[in-house]
Amino acid sequence: MNVFRAGPEHAEVLGALHALSFPAPWQEAEFAALLQQPGVAAWIVIGGIVNEESPEGFILMRAAADEAEVLTLAVVPELRRKGLASKLLRQAFETLKAGKTTRLFLEVAADNAAACALYARHGFAPCGRRPDYYRSDPAKAPVDAIMMSRSL
Ligand SMILES: CC(C)(COP(=O)(O)OP(=O)(O)OC[C@H]1O[C@@H](n2cnc3c(N)ncnc32)[C@H](O)[C@@H]1OP(=O)(O)O)[C@@H](O)C(=O)NCCC(=O)NCCS
Repeated sequence: MNVFRAGPEHAEVLGALHALSFPAPWQEAEFAALLQQPGVAAWIVIGGIVNEESPEGFILMRAAADEAEVLTLAVVPELRRKGLASKLLRQAFETLKAGKTTRLFLEVAADNAAACALYARHGFAPCGRRPDYYRSDPAKAPVDAIMMSRSL
């Protein structure tokens, strides 16, 4: 399992990975623009599960002053529960700790059991709630966002 730092040149790969996991995917151009902003960084994992070259998941973070946030995180659906997201989170923790980040934040949909379990497993605790925050599917009721944070 290998993790590498992604740059704007990986925007297409990031867009493709994001589209496999989210109903309203972020476009390649959005990733390219984000990755040129100060404090924004992404890592891609090549788990070697499909082959030694196939991107299998990614994490996108933004750091500012002594805080950082997880902007998004996703693993290819068929390759979940194999430790790939955990590997990406550990990479993020190490990199942020080497800088000046002391606290890491994120938001997760209250009905996203997999992500909530993943974050709890990695030491995140709830620190707030935004009612009806997610409204991406007009056919479904809005979903609360749970804000979580973890000390580094
Ligand atoms: C959430 C997500 C990133 C997890 O990726 P993953 O590679 O499967 O996670 P890991 O294999 O590292 O899981 C680590 C631990 O998290 C928890 N976990 C992960 N998925 C879970 C699930 N579906 N149900 C319950 N617990 C789960 C477990 O404790 C797991 O450890 P275990 O497998 O030893 O029981 C993945 O399901 C995904 O891409 N989902 C769609 C996108 C998404 O929701 N991203 C997060 C947005 S905030």
